[in-house]
Amino acid sequence: MHQPAITGSGVFTPALSISNEELVVAFNAYADTWNAANAPQIATGAVEAMAHSSSDFIHAASGIESRFVLDKDGILDPDTMHPWLPERSKDEISVMAEMGVDACRKALDMAGVAASDVDAVICAASNHERAYPAIAIEIQQALGTGGFGFDMNVACSSATFGIQAAADMVRSGSIRRALVVNPEICSAHLEWRDRDCHFIFGDVATAVLIERADDAKGPHFKIKSTRCATQFSNNIRNNNGFLRRTRDGHMDDRRDMLFMQNGRKVFKEVLPLVSKHIAEHMDDTGVTAPNLKRLWLHQANKTMNDYIGKKVLGRTPEDGEQPNILQDYANTSSAGSIIAFAQHSDDLAPGDTGIICSFGAGYSVGSVIVERAS
Ligand code: COA
Repeated sequence: MHQPAITGSGVFTPALSISNEELVVAFNAYADTWNAANAPQIATGAVEAMAHSSSDFIHAASGIESRFVLDKDGILDPDTMHPWLPERSKDEISVMAEMGVDACRKALDMAGVAASDVDAVICAASNHERAYPAIAIEIQQALGTGGFGFDMNVACSSATFGIQAAADMVRSGSIRRALVVNPEICSAHLEWRDRDCHFIFGDVATAVLIERADDAKGPHFKIKSTRCATQFSNNIRNNNGFLRRTRDGHMDDRRDMLFMQNGRKVFKEVLPLVSKHIAEHMDDTGVTAPNLKRLWLHQANKTMNDYIGKKVLGRTPEDGEQPNILQDYANTSSAGSIIAFAQHSDDLAPGDTGIICSFGAGYSVGSVIVERAS
């Protein structure tokens, strides 16, 4: 058995971003147009007028201030309200693979590892641009890695479930190195015309390199233990694919293809599930709150993270103990906890322990206990 470790991490951040204020202007213009078009039915009470969104509500309810996106014009055009991602020919790299390759290269550079020394690419994400061939295999080809690649999806928990799969393979010796990559085009599966959720998501890609701790060329994080759990729920659901769209598609035509959630229920049901999951994982591995230096949590909602942090540590986390990145990135599905890890882990000292934890649709929850090593 070999000790697996995370030796590199990388984040691809799109060049474009949308502030809450910009988003609300577009939504409210769309709502006004919709209300004008439906004025007769609204007047008779047959349909309800669409209410305006507000940036104050968005910030207070979620902690989100801005989000990065692959396309801004389509999302902010009140007549379109979804990203325009130009179709690519078969000879061009696909969008998810392109984002993923960027994040993987950063992870490989950090670890000082050549792509040709990687044996597996796991593309773990909430939505895959196509069913096959696997995005992971396209990334494998673009990077020039060896071995194999496959795609997997456990929604927002995809990254930690992917880390468990890769860590187990490294531990057993079936592979020596794996890239776990999480390209998330959340903007294409969000309904930007739904006031309840139009502010939730952003686009990003993250990657981690997992290899034997003995092979690490610099500071790294030993993967001490991983734990995954699922429990069926319809409260976060995508009924259909997400990239099929028509320019003039009516809301009903595309609503079923996009993200849906019962946010309040998610809030109430997922919080106890996650807090209990982390507490039991810590108990079973002998990690106590006083020796836990950092929590890198899934980035969906600030209130949720504050609650989990307090439950796990038994006190309000101090600045930096439970870093949030959702104010800048919004919810980036599986990538959220890995952005937090990549951007807020350098300062830990050898021997320090932290937990990466993701949670979301399924329901699903995954936790990875890591220890800093030099
Ligand atoms: N602008 C202004 N007001 C809004 C609004 C918007 N964009 N969206 C909803 N509201 C209103 C609602 O109409 C409601 O008004 P009412 O009380 O008069 O009925 C009120 O604000 C509260 O709405 P609600 O949806 O219950 O808000 P919330 O406090 O639960 O926050 C979420 C919404 C989505 C931020 C929150 O539920 C959440 O984060 N849930 C968990 C999400 C999650 O983790 N999902 C996983 C995704 S992968």
